[in-house]
Amino acid sequence: MVEVGLEEASYPIIIEASSLSSTGEVIRKRIGRKRGVVITDETVDELYGSDLDDSLRNEGMKIDKLVVEPGEGSKSLDVAGRLYQELAELNLHRDSVVLAFGGGVVGDLAGFVGSTFLRGLPVIQVPTTLLAQVDSSVGGKTAINLARGKNLVGTFHQPEIVLIDPVVLETLSSADVRSGLGEVLKYGLIWDENFFWKTVESLELFEEVGDPEELEASVSRCCEIKAEVVGRDELDKGLRQILNFGHTIGHGIEAGSGYGELKHGEAVIWGMIGELWISLNRGYLTDETFDQILGALTRLSLPALPDDLTNARLLEYIHRDKKVRDGVINCVLIKEPGEDIDLERVGDTELKGAWEFLRSLEVSQG
Ligand code: GLY
Repeated sequence: MVEVGLEEASYPIIIEASSLSSTGEVIRKRIGRKRGVVITDETVDELYGSDLDDSLRNEGMKIDKLVVEPGEGSKSLDVAGRLYQELAELNLHRDSVVLAFGGGVVGDLAGFVGSTFLRGLPVIQVPTTLLAQVDSSVGGKTAINLARGKNLVGTFHQPEIVLIDPVVLETLSSADVRSGLGEVLKYGLIWDENFFWKTVESLELFEEVGDPEELEASVSRCCEIKAEVVGRDELDKGLRQILNFGHTIGHGIEAGSGYGELKHGEAVIWGMIGELWISLNRGYLTDETFDQILGALTRLSLPALPDDLTNARLLEYIHRDKKVRDGVINCVLIKEPGEDIDLERVGDTELKGAWEFLRSLEVSQG
């Protein structure tokens, strides 16, 4: 178990293989709620919905379920509006819990709806993708997208508990595993270099989502790092911004691909390579360190960059990102992997250089 230390808002992240079937028991013992609603998507519901339902009903909970379509399109005002209407019809009260059961989209959407309905219900995150288990379910950021950009409307609303069962990762697609690995490797590069190289050594294990114990250990290490960062900077005013490593260029690529061709974590891997290139270009990283990390990241069979994404359009998307303040683009730059990290201003010329490097890399990879 990992604790996110936020005084009265502190909460546990419980990470345990095959724990999905004890969700009801954990809720009864830790928060004692009887009424709740599960928000999930069709894919997760089909695979694991009945396991969760059984576990909650066995503890005598009265549970309703709201199911959305899978995919980023559900993180919208329209879907949130529909969920509010449905919640209103269920006669929930302020003590009712919302269980966000799914990947990053469901976690952000259900977290957002749960944090605003009746001015905020308790939310329990039950993440089912690697990306959600190691990142988005922890830390209380919730959001929906607008046509103009990703995560533009949201709240900080810490969950009551995060319940992680690494065994459910077995049914993930290889793209979803790679996407989660992007965030896992990010933790290594910003916080714990040994963990980065250990993860790289066991990439095959992840690709097949093999040994649950190894997975449990990796997910736990990521949650420990995230808990430490969030515990020191809950509201993203300083330290927490290091979690955005790879996300300045990554979000630009994601937006430029219409949030479809590449998964979030895949775009972040491309983004990390681009941002490492900026560190190299500034003389912060040696050629040797850069080449070693690049070799590791490119073992991940990344999907191609969007064909029609020009440098000019990428810059347009990067400038629109909510991380930009007064036109200044700040980027997380690594000087010493796992140790010396800074948020620094970067210019369009450097971003163009990074983009050209990513394109050249794509050509050389064939
Ligand atoms: N995913 C970045 C954060 O939670 O701050």
